[in-house]
Amino acid sequence: MTEKMNQDNPINPHKKPSAAKLLAWYDKNRRGLPWRALAGETPDPYRVWLSEMMLQQTTVATVAPYFNKFIKRWPTVQTLARARLASVLKMWAGLGYYRRARALHETARVIAREYGGVFPRDEAGLKALAGIGDYTAAALGAIAFDQKTNVVDGNVERVMARIFAVEEPLPKAKKILNALAAHCLPRARFGDYAQSLMDLGATLCSPRSPRCDLCPWAKDCLARQKGGAEGFPKRAKRVKKPQKKAIAFVLFDRKGRVFLQKRPEKGLLAGMMGVPTTPLKARKPLSWEEALAYAPALGAWTSLKTGVHHTFTHFDLELSVVISRADHSVFEGVWIAPEKVFAQALPSVMKKVLKGALQS
Ligand code: ADE
Repeated sequence: MTEKMNQDNPINPHKKPSAAKLLAWYDKNRRGLPWRALAGETPDPYRVWLSEMMLQQTTVATVAPYFNKFIKRWPTVQTLARARLASVLKMWAGLGYYRRARALHETARVIAREYGGVFPRDEAGLKALAGIGDYTAAALGAIAFDQKTNVVDGNVERVMARIFAVEEPLPKAKKILNALAAHCLPRARFGDYAQSLMDLGATLCSPRSPRCDLCPWAKDCLARQKGGAEGFPKRAKRVKKPQKKAIAFVLFDRKGRVFLQKRPEKGLLAGMMGVPTTPLKARKPLSWEEALAYAPALGAWTSLKTGVHHTFTHFDLELSVVISRADHSVFEGVWIAPEKVFAQALPSVMKKVLKGALQS
């Protein structure tokens, strides 16, 4: 097959990398992950589901301790279904994307009450559940039920872009990378295969310093023949995220307690605890007079020298932190002793704000 044909149609049946080689590599090198069944063990769909919910947009290293804490406290879907939402949110605090924690709780309740504690095995049944989209349904199908599904995350996209030296840049290339991944699927061991691809992408086929010397697919890799795996996937120029500015108000009372309030049930960080702020996604920064409408007390506010930067999915936030003292707040909320502040379910951005303010 010529170079030209390969570019027009990267799905070249003669170039299909060997699933058997990858699976043999996986059998020797699989990562021991807390949610992963041991070789030969039947996976527990609850553990697979819980891990996949946590791993959406979060790394394996971050998720592992959270997964262990959750499993210890709620070892089955029924126990999680009986938990209070507030307890789940508190345990989730720091993982970000709090809508996922709410979806997790909602789905646990549906599985316990409507499905007798048994996860559905079909894609449509899975996708009808809160928090389960195409990717998670495919991952559950393969990993929990050993079904032939096409599980494609960022790692798998990178592997496919390299094996087939796909010139189309991401994100436009997603469709073709998906088709290539489907084309490579094996005839059996679908769960192991999905996880072997994830492991390959997360360990050897890393973004910056791929270990092609150890890769079971090195001989099949077109990127390597074209001068180096590092050059793939191609990427369209990144557009800078919008930069937003807001103000966080840290109010202390005479005893040194901090005022926290629950955020509205809708929107960014919905229902989470935190200090009052001006709107985090405001189109333009407010004047100080406008900002004061969001302050929990009138009076003298002092600005901390260093603010807080935080990156959300769709924008970067620069938060100025101001502090003041008062024994009453104009808002509803709670006063928390400084040593108990970090025992609250606080989103990371709020932890950063409070860390700065409590050290000041
Ligand atoms: N990323 C998403 N799902 C994963 C899994 N099950 N194992 C490792 N990394 C993952």
